[in-house]
Amino acid sequence: MTMLQKEKLQWSHQHLLGIRELTEIDIREVHSTAFAFKEVIRRRIKKVPALRGRTVVNLFVEPSTRTRVSFELAAQRMSADVLNFDVSASSFKKGESLLDTVLNIQALQSDIIVLRHPDAGAAHLIANHLSCSVINAGDGAHEHPTQALLDTFTLVEKLGDITGLPVLISGDIAHSRVARSLVLALRLLGAEVTLCGPATLLPQEFVQLGASVTHDFDGALPQARVIYLLRIQHERQQSGLFPGIGEFISLYGMNEERLSRCRPDVIIMHPGPINRGVELPSSIADGPHSLILEQVTNGLAVRMAVLYLLNHARLKTERCSRASARSGA
Ligand code: CP
Repeated sequence: MTMLQKEKLQWSHQHLLGIRELTEIDIREVHSTAFAFKEVIRRRIKKVPALRGRTVVNLFVEPSTRTRVSFELAAQRMSADVLNFDVSASSFKKGESLLDTVLNIQALQSDIIVLRHPDAGAAHLIANHLSCSVINAGDGAHEHPTQALLDTFTLVEKLGDITGLPVLISGDIAHSRVARSLVLALRLLGAEVTLCGPATLLPQEFVQLGASVTHDFDGALPQARVIYLLRIQHERQQSGLFPGIGEFISLYGMNEERLSRCRPDVIIMHPGPINRGVELPSSIADGPHSLILEQVTNGLAVRMAVLYLLNHARLKTERCSRASARSGA
């Protein structure tokens, strides 16, 4: 494993709640730590003792495949004890509140809670009441910071410096926590972001994050080095925001003819889950331009890095508390 120089780490965050709370240095530190863990996950024995004795609880109040599985694997690879909280068999179902649930999880001496929740702000809410660390694994249409960290890691791994990189993010921007976190992370790293979608799915507030906005997918395609496709989030939508899936596919669906008008070295990304035949066909999702499964692999290394850095901050705090106790402060 590439040596991690613990004493040089600047990360001091107790929680990872959103990209909005991070600096460019924080993001680069997650990336450099993830590069070290990428080497670990390719070994025959894919395990390090960094979180031995720590307890990580995955609390997913909303469905997930990639994020939940990769957090579980990441915690196991770091030798933590991992508890996957089963919401459907819990006292949530008897009306226990989120806050009471996490206070009880913390009372069992948990160190890190990974929360996915349908309500924006849920991770911030619990973080305000807990002394253990909280990771936001997606809160409503607000933020999904580890997705943005793994996406930017994937681009940096592939391309190196991404300053000035033209990135087109297209689809249902309005309901996408991925879009918000990704725009923030890409802008911190100096990339040029254009957002594209029907006006009803593209709120102007995104311009304040430093992105350009267009509704013309065909016009934007030739300039993009990276095209990041987003699915329509039916579960978060009111009806009538666009005429129908057929209309969406004809205006914003990637296809072979559109791909032929892109740069020959264009990169196609998607956070998943993909709707084959809607955002893109299988020939492109599984084709040579696609980094979709590399994003998933990198998600494991990035989530190991996030767990490592949060634990590093906890160790620093614990050392300080012990030192103060010894000095009688
Ligand atoms: N990209 C992502 O968050 O996927 P899951 O919902 O499967 O975790």
